[in-house]
Amino acid sequence: MQEQQSIRFLLGHQLTEISDIRPTTTILEYLRGTQRLTGTKEGCAEGDCGACTVVIAEVRDEVLHYQACNACILFVPFLHGKQLITVEHLKDENGELHPVQQAMVDEHGSQCGFCTPGFVMSMFAMYHNDTSTDRASIDDALAGNLCRCTGYAPIVRAVRNSLTARQIDRFEQIEDETVLALNKINTGDTLTVNRDGQEYHAPSSIEALSHVLASQSECRIVAGSTDVGLWVTKQRQSLDCIVSVSNIKELKYIHIADNTITIGAATPLAEVMRVLSKYYPSLSELFRRFGSSQIRNVATIGGNVANGSPIGDCAPALIALGSTLFLSSVDGTRQLLAEDFFLDYGKQDRASNEFLEKINIPLPVPRQVFRVYKISKRFHQDISAVCGAFSMMIYDQTIQTARVCFGGMAATPRR
Ligand code: FAD
Ligand code: FES
Ligand code: FES
Repeated sequence: MQEQQSIRFLLGHQLTEISDIRPTTTILEYLRGTQRLTGTKEGCAEGDCGACTVVIAEVRDEVLHYQACNACILFVPFLHGKQLITVEHLKDENGELHPVQQAMVDEHGSQCGFCTPGFVMSMFAMYHNDTSTDRASIDDALAGNLCRCTGYAPIVRAVRNSLTARQIDRFEQIEDETVLALNKINTGDTLTVNRDGQEYHAPSSIEALSHVLASQSECRIVAGSTDVGLWVTKQRQSLDCIVSVSNIKELKYIHIADNTITIGAATPLAEVMRVLSKYYPSLSELFRRFGSSQIRNVATIGGNVANGSPIGDCAPALIALGSTLFLSSVDGTRQLLAEDFFLDYGKQDRASNEFLEKINIPLPVPRQVFRVYKISKRFHQDISAVCGAFSMMIYDQTIQTARVCFGGMAATPRR
């Protein structure tokens, strides 16, 4: 397998190559500091306010997917093989605004303007993904963007108007060319960036990942970076060695067979939510309330379990459903029940050379009732105070068996 030493991506439609950057530089720092693209703002630097929202497009099954993301917590190497679109790229060469920008102008959706580029980029992502104009869908798409001035009503109207009058925009017109350009960058080589005493590896296979972890005892795994990003932006940790799982297709899938749903650990929660909610509808609200769409687009199910947080939202449901985790390394794969993974606060049953490969969740069976409840101060974009998951077998109105798990009640999620 070849090694690629520079980060290559499309900035707007411009092929861009970087080989001299500290790997934990955030996309926001790069945009504002290096590119002087200052439309993307910094508010909280922890994924909460949405002022830094950009759109990152990537090719999956030969189709370009546009996702709103928080530039403040993603590291620049995450961009390799993708397209980065910022508010500066939206208007055309004649200065004509994109329909979502024009709708914000028409509806007076901006006052001080600090939040506006972030809202515009969330609207741009919605324009390309979900054209539902009901209030709940709009609220979900905007839940990761905060505005202290407008009261939101004009912004919601702007979203609705732009979607109702939706036409093919200039990004879609040249989508085939964009896919071609991105496919050329994605050669399948391992990306390795070394700078200022930091090493960053982004292998494209499980085998290459296992070898990095076997040879580097202190290497930290990063997936969607929605926890790890904050170690850098908030805790100022210096991570000397990082290995990213986000380019490994073998870790990003959902298969259903033999009464089991198998989910690759690096599958983003936005996709997990679409599939799991069909089988366990109670999970639908839990996932809607997991962070924001910017967070769910990159945060992975594996990252949520592996971080071992007692208030992680996936663990109670996975444990109540009797799920199994698969941990792999160069020495092979072992499996354990999800409830046995969490040993103590901040301590999980995972060796430093192991990674979480996949999770098996049993499909529902007749007479099974499953419910999950998240209690938090706000409906959207808030971590759980308590999360409870209940899986019961009910015969003749009598509960015969029950598996109950709580998060937020002890040092680990516990039955
Ligand atoms: P990363 O940040 O990349 O990694 C997290 C941890 O898991 C690290 O220790 C990393 O080394 C390890 N890791 C990642 N992948 C693997 C793997 N395959 N094998 C072994 N170790 C691995 N969490 C909730 O539960 N509910 C919420 O509502 C919620 N809201 C949030 C809102 C905001 C604004 C932010 C910033 C975070 C929020 N989180 C929430 C926390 C976070 O989004 C989740 O824990 C998320 O699932 C982490 O996934 P990730 O892919 O981003 O992990
Ligand atoms: Fe607030 Fe990024 S700056 S979410
Ligand atoms: Fe001022 Fe939104 S317009 S914060």
